[in-house]
Amino acid sequence: MPLVTTKEMFAKAYNGGYAVGAFNVNNMEIVQGITEAAGELKSPVILQVSKGARAYANHTYLVKLVEAAIIENPEIPIALHLDHGDTFELCKSCIDGGFTSVMIDASSKPFDENIALTRKVVEYAHDHGVVVEAELGTLAGVEDEVSVEHGHESYTRPEEVEEFVSRTGCDSLAIAIGTSHGAYKFKASQCTRNADGVLVPPPLRFDVLHECIKRLPGFPIVLHGSSSVPQEFVKMVNQYGGNMPDAIGIPEDQLREAAKLAVCKINIDSDIRLAMTGNIRKYFAEHPDHFDPRQYLKPARQAVKDMVAHKIVHVLGSDGKA
Ligand code: G3H
Ligand code: 13P
Ligand code: ZN
Repeated sequence: MPLVTTKEMFAKAYNGGYAVGAFNVNNMEIVQGITEAAGELKSPVILQVSKGARAYANHTYLVKLVEAAIIENPEIPIALHLDHGDTFELCKSCIDGGFTSVMIDASSKPFDENIALTRKVVEYAHDHGVVVEAELGTLAGVEDEVSVEHGHESYTRPEEVEEFVSRTGCDSLAIAIGTSHGAYKFKASQCTRNADGVLVPPPLRFDVLHECIKRLPGFPIVLHGSSSVPQEFVKMVNQYGGNMPDAIGIPEDQLREAAKLAVCKINIDSDIRLAMTGNIRKYFAEHPDHFDPRQYLKPARQAVKDMVAHKIVHVLGSDGKA
């Protein structure tokens, strides 16, 4: 099937009590790892491209890689989404260039400015059959060149969501309930430690999520910053020469809980990076004489596939929903 928008995906996910994974893509191995897992598990999937990914790999290469994945996986719905678009021009370029969904992230701007820019993108996108994700509230961590320090993040204010959605006409809304970008989602001082000395983060603000759902019945909610930072990858990185002390993510059971509610899209990027980096470091340590990129990218791609398959079954619940 051709590229789809997220409209039908989200309607089914909302009613079915699951979420669709939105995975960031930057190269061929990542596209293959994600879509092979989704294809085998008959899961819908969103491939998302950031401004940084476009700068790294080039718009055309990424679109063509995604087109190849569609040919290889004809039975599953795949959407191509712009992650954290920060200007109208960037969103327009992706809409004109074949994306089926864009995010306009004006969440760092004052409320009325966020609405005005989001509305402008929505009008152009809808005229071209493309859907729009917007954001209210700011996550800590690094969002596409926008860095928000811990302590400066702000939860979404539920009393603003209805006005925001009705004035912008956006198709889905990313909210801030305590997730954050990157592999260091919480400072050690915000956490406790378990018996193994691993940080245990504070729980997500489900009260904020429930308030938003109450005000936007039937409307798809998006969670950014939702990598779980699997400790097996952190250990692998550290064991084979890396240095990522106290890397910590969002516990999977909380994401599963959110997926059963109105959360229809869950964004995952850092876990892909960790799966690849851990496995490449391990491969180099175990095969110091190898120098063919195919040799070390093969286990990295497999690790992405295994990780995505795990998410689809145990976190998103989207297996068999294609
Ligand atoms: O939220 C940001 C995504 O993880 C993309 O990151 O801008 O480094 O590609 P990036
Ligand atoms: P993570 O850094 O938690 O993977 O979040 C990715 C994301 O939100 C992309 O928009
Ligand atoms: Zn994000």
